[in-house]
Amino acid sequence: MSSFTKLFFLFFFVLSLSSLHSLTLPSDVAALQAFKSTVKPATILSYSCLGSWNFTSDPCASPRITHFMCGVNCDTSITPFRVIQITLDPAGYSGTLSPMISKISTLVVLDLSDNNFFGNIPSLLSSLPNLQTLTLRSNSFSGSIPPSIGNLKSLVSLDLSHNSLSGYLPDSIVSLSNLRRIDLSYNKLTGSIPKLPLNLLELAIKANNLSGSLSKLTFDGAGQLEVIELSENSFSGTLQGWFFLLPSLQQVNLANNSLRFIEIWKPANGKSDLVAVDMGFNKIEGNLPVNFASYPVLSSLSLRYNRLRGSIPAELGKSERLKRLFLDGNFLNGSPPKGLFSSKGGVSGSLGDNCLRNCPVSSDLCLKLQKPTSICRQAYGGKPTS
Ligand SMILES: *[C@@H]1O[C@H](CO)[C@@H](O)[C@H](O)[C@H]1NC(C)=O
Ligand SMILES: *[C@@H]1O[C@H](CO)[C@@H](O)[C@H](O)[C@H]1NC(C)=O
Ligand SMILES: *[C@@H]1O[C@H](CO)[C@@H](O)[C@H](O)[C@H]1NC(C)=O
Repeated sequence: MSSFTKLFFLFFFVLSLSSLHSLTLPSDVAALQAFKSTVKPATILSYSCLGSWNFTSDPCASPRITHFMCGVNCDTSITPFRVIQITLDPAGYSGTLSPMISKISTLVVLDLSDNNFFGNIPSLLSSLPNLQTLTLRSNSFSGSIPPSIGNLKSLVSLDLSHNSLSGYLPDSIVSLSNLRRIDLSYNKLTGSIPKLPLNLLELAIKANNLSGSLSKLTFDGAGQLEVIELSENSFSGTLQGWFFLLPSLQQVNLANNSLRFIEIWKPANGKSDLVAVDMGFNKIEGNLPVNFASYPVLSSLSLRYNRLRGSIPAELGKSERLKRLFLDGNFLNGSPPKGLFSSKGGVSGSLGDNCLRNCPVSSDLCLKLQKPTSICRQAYGGKPTS
């Protein structure tokens, strides 16, 4: 055959693959086309994944040499082929998310992170029965989280962080019985946290405008919760004793809120996995709770920049696990427990900017100066700061 004839046959071969006998379910192809069509063409660079989405060929056909080079994955073990994953590159795409994506009923992963998608999160997304990972992190989505999200029964990981989402978190999230991780940090969410799904491991809603007190109803039954990251919100009131007894809890960050009181209960049977607690930059009053010393693996504790008074309990100085202790910026008085300065302890952190006496200058914990006597005297109603 002449090379011209070869080319001629190749042309018809490709044509037959792409249009005559389409490999991928036509409605999946149509949905991908609709998805691409709501992205502004000017933001689709030729070398990007979406730039290679050329619908003259089949999205699931392999090898992928010039077309559909990335951004989409298929299940090719079934006929017709089905789309199971859309993971875009961070190429600066801007546009809206087409609700037509909900037609791809086999979709398992949708990841559009680090782009400039804007507009609402379409509520039709909730009709994706197999979706396990929804990642829209670092885009410009706005409006509220659609209540229909509770229908995503297969969802394992939800990351909508770094967008401009507002309004309340829908009550329906409790129905997400497979959900392990939720990250809604850096949005503009308001109100309180509704009841959490029971199998959740990690809750992150840092840097929003959530308010009110942390309610037992929210955390009831969340027995697997290991990480709670709720810093930089407007939580207020009392953090009640049940909170640190959540059975799987390891890390808690509630820094930069407006909490006023904390109740610390001793762990039942002395058992707790709690490793790190940050409640710095709140408005916590009262004494430093001695029961923190009963948490057997607690190694990092920050209560810096609150309004704590009284002395540092000697029990805290006896904990062998404690490695980091930040209590600076309070009104703590008396002498700090000697145990904090023993060579074997090796505790780092700060006890400065308090009303302590005899904080050994040889210790890094005491590098930052204590408050002036006049301020301490005033804080303790004119009585001596002993
Ligand atoms: C799509 O592919 C066809 C055939 O390979 C080509 O002729 C066409 O120019 C491509 N379209 C775009 C927008 O790149
Ligand atoms: C946060 O919410 C409170 C009311 O709960 C409001 O007064 C405040 O302005 C909000 N802050 C921001 C940054 O939106
Ligand atoms: C809390 O706010 C302080 C002061 O603005 C800041 O230095 C610190 O990094 C914040 N911590 C967290 C966990 O948000």
